[in-house]
Order: sequence, then structure tokens, then C-alpha cells
Amino acid sequence: MSSLLSTSIGELELSSPVIVASGPLTSSPETVKRLIPYKPAAIVTKTIAIRPAKPPKPNILRLSRFSLLNCEDWSDRSPAYWAEEGIPKIKKLGTTVIASIVSLSRKGEEMGYLARRMTEAGADAIEVTCLYDPAYLPDHLRAVRSESDLPILAKISIPELRDEYVLRMGRKIMETGVDAIVASDTYGPCLHVDITTGEPFLGKKDGSGRLSGPAIKPFTMYFTALLARELKATVISCGGISRWEDVIEAVLLGASATEICTAILLEGIEVIGRILEGLSEYLSRRGESIQELKGKALERIKNRLQLPEPIRVGPPKIDVSSCTGCGLCAKSCPVGAIYMEKEKAFIGKSCEACGLCVSVCPAKAIGWS
Ligand SMILES: Cc1cc2nc3c(=O)[nH]c(=O)nc-3n(C[C@H](O)[C@H](O)[C@H](O)COP(=O)(O)O)c2cc1C
Repeated sequence: MSSLLSTSIGELELSSPVIVASGPLTSSPETVKRLIPYKPAAIVTKTIAIRPAKPPKPNILRLSRFSLLNCEDWSDRSPAYWAEEGIPKIKKLGTTVIASIVSLSRKGEEMGYLARRMTEAGADAIEVTCLYDPAYLPDHLRAVRSESDLPILAKISIPELRDEYVLRMGRKIMETGVDAIVASDTYGPCLHVDITTGEPFLGKKDGSGRLSGPAIKPFTMYFTALLARELKATVISCGGISRWEDVIEAVLLGASATEICTAILLEGIEVIGRILEGLSEYLSRRGESIQELKGKALERIKNRLQLPEPIRVGPPKIDVSSCTGCGLCAKSCPVGAIYMEKEKAFIGKSCEACGLCVSVCPAKAIGWS
């Protein structure tokens, strides 16, 4: 049944754009069972490889309210477990199951086998990921396609933050006939060391981990827009999504759906319900569906790309009646152009219209003239 929230990836119909991403939340039928009351549109299993992982421990570190580092590796359960028990049990919970698989070799000779086993086990789609270097992903995707008729999602990592790199990789992936590109996995490697002991917190030998959570959301948005705009790819945005507003932002930039992991780890599984409720209210209020909103902001970006020069607005203007006198704008102004008088903020002549105060003001009292 179609609703304002519904979306699709190839032939995979989804009740909403909110999918739980591959990770510790989807590492077994027992962990997935906890998610079901909050009705995610689908879950992506913990990544399945030909041999079970022996992950370092500890492997997850909360770095800030907005970020995690992890070095969790793929699933510590075998493909036979997932095919015979894991996927059938998760299917019985009544959710859509996307089986995540990865090759441990460049050639990907095991990918056909993994794809066949997960297809026979009843998965609804297959997500093919890579161990942070997407160079061999196209070959792995072809091997999967030859053994499965299910919708196939290609999950990329972005080791080089350059348009040319991402577009070249995106093109090669799309040539394999995938149904969507998931952008993206975590970013890294990264390092955190405890200053009292001098020891890294995470268990990997070099102490490194990979970054996820709201801190990486701007990358997710940028690469979603790039792949949707330049390659007309079907994109699933993944990375830093934690609020319903983030889902709308991704959809406006061309995403067909989103995947979420870290926000649920940082805030609890209720996040899924909160996001779905927020989306529902927003879409009902506007009388617009996810499908209708998809890609709307891309038009604006395309128009801007035609301009001879970048945008130059300003100076900003303070609506004195809305100003609460908190002084945050004055504190953050890099050139000291904002001054306070009788508990109201005023902008002086040295203002350079950088825009920081507009986004800092909690009362939204600063706009453009
Ligand atoms: C602890 C942890 C384990 C993860 N394990 C996997 C995995 O097995 N396979 C995979 O494709 N991605 C894995 N990821 C990456 C997430 O699926 C997701 O791509 C990434 O964290 C960015 O999204 P987020 O900011 O919503 O977490 C893991 C992430 C975390 C934090």
C-alpha cells in the first residue's frame, strides 16, 4: 500500500525511507527483534563473509555526542549460520531483510556462493560492501548478479574525497546494473588515544577505528547529491542520519532511502520511531510524499552551477524584536562586527557577511537584508 512515506529501490518496495544499517544492531535475530516494534522499513544484516570475523575488543568508542569510532569487522558468525538460521529467523519477525555480504579477496571468488546462499535463505535484497576500498566492487557485483535475481545494493566507502574519484567509481558500479548505491560506509582510518594511559582505546593493534555519526553527515549529503545529480543513480544515503530532518535533506538531495546505525547506538532504538513520527507529521502537513520531494534541492544546485559567479548576499540584518540578547552572535563573529546594546545585538560596518551569525542565532533573529 502506497503512503506518503513509501519508497522503492528497484523492485524492493519499502514502507518508509528508514532502514537500519549493517552493524551491531543487526548482528543476530535477537538484536533485530528489539528493533521491530519501531517498524524500520528494512534491516541490513551485519556483513557476512566466507569466514567468521574475530573482531578486536573493545571495538566501539563514543568519541562525542556526534561521533563514534569503531573497528568491529564483519560478522563473527558463518555464512552457514546466516543462511540456515539467521536470515530465516529474521524473516519470521516480519521485516524486510537485506543481506550484507563482502569478499575477503580481490577476486571475490566467494561472492557468487554467498549471494546464492542468502538468496535461497529468503533475503529480500543483497547489499554488497567492500572493506573500505571499492576498487574491486564492480567485479564482486557482477559475481553476485550472476547468482541472484534479487535487488542489489552496492555499499561504497569513499577513501578519496574527490568528485572525480567518486564519479569514476560510481560509473563503474552502475555499469554492473545495480539497483542502488549506498553512500556510504564509515570514514577513516582515525585514531583516539587516552591521554592518561597513552593507550589507544580501541583493540586494533594500531588503535585505529573508523568514524560514523552526525559528524560525517555533510559528506553523506554531498556525495548523495553528486551521485544523484551527475549519474542519476538511485542513492541510499547512509552516514550521520539522526533526525527526521536529515532524512528529508537526503531525499531533497536525491536519495530514495536512508540507512541509520550510529544515531541508534548513541540515542537508543526509539530514534527509529521518532524519525518515522517526525517524517509522517511533516509530510502530512505539507501534503507531499517522499517520492514527490525526491531530488527537489538538486534543481536548485543545478541552477546555481550555471551562474557566472558564486552567490554574494549581505549584509545580514537583525530583527531586534526577535533578538533575545543572548550575545552568541557577538561572541562568534570572527571580525568583532557585532556589538550588544541594552541587551540587543547590532551589526557594525566591519561586517563581512560571512553568515556565521545567521546560523548561530538560536532565536533565528538574523536574516539577510
Ligand atoms: C559499530 C559499527 C559496526 C559496523 N559494522 C558494519 C558492517 O558489518 N557492515 C557494513 O557494511 N557497515 C558496518 N558499519 C557501518 C554502518 O553500516 C554505516 O555505514 C556507518 O556507520 C555510517 O552510518 P551512521 O553514521 O548512521 O552509523 C558499522 C558501523 C558501526 C558504527
